[in-house]
Amino acid sequence: MHRTNNFLYFANAFVTQQPFIKAMTKRFKLRGKNILSIASGTCAEEVIMALSRVKSVTCVDPDYATLSIGITASVNIPNISFANYKIQEFQAKEKFDFVYTSAPSDWLDDIGWEGGMPDHYIDAINKYAKDNVVIMLYGPKYEPFIDEEHFLNMIDQQLEDFYILEWWDMTVGNILVLGREERVIPDHPDFVKADLRWLDKEGGNCKRVYQWTPSKD
Ligand SMILES: C[S@@+](CC[C@H](N)C(=O)[O-])C[C@H]1O[C@@H](n2cnc3c(N)ncnc32)[C@H](O)[C@@H]1O
Repeated sequence: MHRTNNFLYFANAFVTQQPFIKAMTKRFKLRGKNILSIASGTCAEEVIMALSRVKSVTCVDPDYATLSIGITASVNIPNISFANYKIQEFQAKEKFDFVYTSAPSDWLDDIGWEGGMPDHYIDAINKYAKDNVVIMLYGPKYEPFIDEEHFLNMIDQQLEDFYILEWWDMTVGNILVLGREERVIPDHPDFVKADLRWLDKEGGNCKRVYQWTPSKD
């Protein structure tokens, strides 16, 4: 059984995810920014973000046993906080500069890719994302897309105020990057070249299959 609610999982993720999270922090210029992480689990990635000098990371997860690993691991880290809720129950007064979600099980479990994004993720993004959103779709429940073009079209229609900026393909999953503005995000060499490969047990096959490009007119 794949268990995510123990210290070993936290420790392993804390080590293996460092390059990606650090590269993501640089690429999206997250220093000094407020971040919302949905389905944060043990919060290993979020602790890395907090230590990378973001202003704040708010971790939302309904599973207290899992979240408490992050709470215990970060007792001396002031810029991380925890909300033991489902995202659909979470309330915050402000929007966040950046929204992140990694392997959200409620989305992956009742996956039905043809449905696009679950309503509660759409609501949370509309309500809380000031700009960029990075969604990592991978994990034990992950199944490869049958029709990813259909999936992306659905999301494009569901999220009226957001644009799909990037879609990355890994053997083990996919990464979706959204933004409120149509724009190309400058590449960061680590993000592009190497740092997603830890995920890809098949041998580092991560490639960007979609990048939004400015129209000519
Ligand atoms: C596979 S774990 C991923 C945890 C972490 N993001 C990671 O990458 O290690 C999926 C997490 O989604 C959380 N989750 C499930 N439904 C949720 C919901 N409605 N709102 C927020 N989190 C949810 C679960 O409690 C679980 O901790």
